[in-house]
This record gives sequence, C-alpha cells and structure tokens, in this order.
Amino acid sequence: MNYRHAYHAGNHADVLKHIVLARVIEHMKKKDKAFRVIDAHAGIGVYDLKGIEAGKTGEWETGIGKMAAPFSPEVEALIAPYREAIAKLNPQGGIVQYPGSPDLALGLMRYDDRMVANELHPEDAMTLQRNLGWDERVKVTELDADTCIKANLPPPERRGVILIDPPYEVKNEAERVIRMIRHGLRRFAQGVFMLWYPVKADGLENVLTSEVQAMGVASTLRVELMVREAFDAGGLAGSGLLILNAPWKLDEDLRVIVPALAERLGLGAFGRGTVEWVVPPK
Ligand SMILES: C[S@@+](CC[C@H](N)C(=O)[O-])C[C@H]1O[C@@H](n2cnc3c(N)ncnc32)[C@H](O)[C@@H]1O
Repeated sequence: MNYRHAYHAGNHADVLKHIVLARVIEHMKKKDKAFRVIDAHAGIGVYDLKGIEAGKTGEWETGIGKMAAPFSPEVEALIAPYREAIAKLNPQGGIVQYPGSPDLALGLMRYDDRMVANELHPEDAMTLQRNLGWDERVKVTELDADTCIKANLPPPERRGVILIDPPYEVKNEAERVIRMIRHGLRRFAQGVFMLWYPVKADGLENVLTSEVQAMGVASTLRVELMVREAFDAGGLAGSGLLILNAPWKLDEDLRVIVPALAERLGLGAFGRGTVEWVVPPK
C-alpha cells in the first residue's frame, strides 16, 4: 500500500466527491430517522494543505485552491454545507486544513447519526483515530474495505450511506469494488452506495458504469467532472461517482452544481460536468 491521500487532498476530484457527499448527507437529514455512514476507505480525516505531502504535489491548487470566489447564489446555497465544514476547520480564515470525507460527514451528521470510518493503512488509521475517534458517534476500524462493508451491513438504523473510495493502485480494483457493492447490496439493498472513480485514458469509468448498470438498482446516478482531455500516461483528467439508490432530487442539485464546477476547475476552456441516470428512478 503506497497510496497516501495527503498528497492529493483538496484536488479537483476531492472537491467533486466531497460536495456530492455533503449533498447526499443533507438529503439523508430530510427524514428524522437516524442513519449511518460507512466510510470504507476513510483516509486520515483532516489534511494539512501547508504540509510536506500536499506541498510536494500542489494538487490542492487544482481544486480547493480555485474555489475561493463565490459562485451564483443558487450554487452557493447548495454547496453551503461543504463551505461551512471547511470554515469550521479554519477559524482564522483561509484554507490550511482540509476535511477528508469522514470529517466532512461527521460535521454534517446529527446527534443520533453514526459513522464507521475504516482505513487499512495502519499509520493512517492511527491518525484517523486521533483526528475523529474522540467523537462518540464514530467508530474507527482498520479492516479491508470489503470486510468492513460485510461486517457493518445492514446498519441497525436501516438507513445508510456507504462510501467506496479506493486508490485504484492494485490491478483488480475494479473487480474488487464491484464485488464490494454486490456484497453490500445483498445485505442492505436500500443503502445509498457511492463509488468514486478516476478518469484517465483507460476506460475504467465505462467498465464500472456497465457493471453497476447491470445491477439494475433504481435511481443509480453518474456524476462526472472532467478538467481536461484524458490521454495515455496523462494522469488524472477527471473523476466521477456512481451513486446507487441516489436520494430523491439529488440529481437536480448536481445539475446546478457540476456545470459550475466544470467551468471553474476546467483547464483553459476545457471543463465538462455531466450528470446522468444510469438506471432511472422507478
Ligand atoms: C482516496 S483515499 C480516501 C480518501 C477519503 N475517502 C477522503 O475523501 O477524504 C483511499 C484510502 O483507502 C485506503 N485503502 C487502500 N486499500 C484499502 C483497503 N483494501 N481497505 C481499506 N482501505 C484501503 C488508503 O490507505 C487510502 O487512505
């Protein structure tokens, strides 16, 4: 396991993923009943953008570094929870600390909502425990993501969001994530499963989409943000998420937000944001 998210935190892919996650959680909160977040690849929770790792790549400058100027009031209203989570971590203003997915989710969760934050890398799991483990709503575990999903589904609350966000550094990661979703759905068919994927020039996004489409789960949404053209050995050109059992009207939010992100984060005149149903709602 070579991947450390500290090198990539706050990049354009994180901005998309975290804004979508925040919207999903806001939709979950529309019902009084508590829910559980299972963050199967949680990372360390909080990232220092002035730290050595972030400084080595400067990736955050392609993402959160471009988000300072306000968008239209309509977009700002929808991304307010994301903005507030960042502001809470940076009381002095500016953005030095950046919230990873478990910190962001925790900041938005209510008193009765619960989270399992899982991270396989032992050192990162320890940092995660230090960053978030003090909160009684969180349980930090150090399992393989597949085991974590199997062990925690169905959640006692019978409402839940499962984030699958691996580094795709092993060859069979696509098969593994598809297996995880199958295992998860078997135990918890109504769960909101969010699968993050990178867009390079290898067609992974279409392989994953076809596999997920074949599962036939109503309300499966695909959201994608391309910041430049994908070409061989060109690295991360964009990213996306497949969301199974997407909350009602999440698509409407994302159709407002994602084109604005594409315009802001696209390089030069390039920038494409798409939101489409892979399996429509019933
Ligand atoms: C992309 S990062 C997660 C970022 C985090 N979700 C966020 O948005 O802030 C992927 C994480 O998965 C961890 N990881 C890799 N393989 C794993 C596995 N099999 N099970 C659980 N975690 C794993 C890595 O150590 C890394 O911290």
